Amino acid sequence: MDVKDRLTGVCEVLESNIPYYDWVGFYFKNGDKEELKLKSFAGEPTDHEIIPFGKGICGQVAVSNKNFVVPDVKAQNNYIACSIHVKAEIVIPLFVNGENIGQIDIDSHTADPFSHEDEIFLQWVNEKVAEIL
Ligand code: SME
Repeated sequence: MDVKDRLTGVCEVLESNIPYYDWVGFYFKNGDKEELKLKSFAGEPTDHEIIPFGKGICGQVAVSNKNFVVPDVKAQNNYIACSIHVKAEIVIPLFVNGENIGQIDIDSHTADPFSHEDEIFLQWVNEKVAEIL
């Protein structure tokens, strides 16, 4: 099984087991371009397969290298809407040898669902994923 399929499996496990994880995807830096590209996901297909650095929550994490927890997407002005049902989002950068090479992005249809435990858990998921890249 290739990496893309294995990551799709990770997305599906998270999306189907955690009630407030409604869309789960992995974006990675797209070669030398200043943009992210969607590699694997679970949930509804999105139009936003390419996201320029700095744009939206994902693009901001590509440059900040920091976790971004959004309890209410309506309160964000630099936000890319993927679905009208999304109320909250969490994006956790994925590091390989200290370099931010991508991220896990989760959308929720529940308002303000993400806690510090989600951050710790998703950091751990990303550490495990980094080992299979
Ligand atoms: N909402 C994200 C775009 C990706 S979708 O959630 C799948 C953002 O603002 O970067």
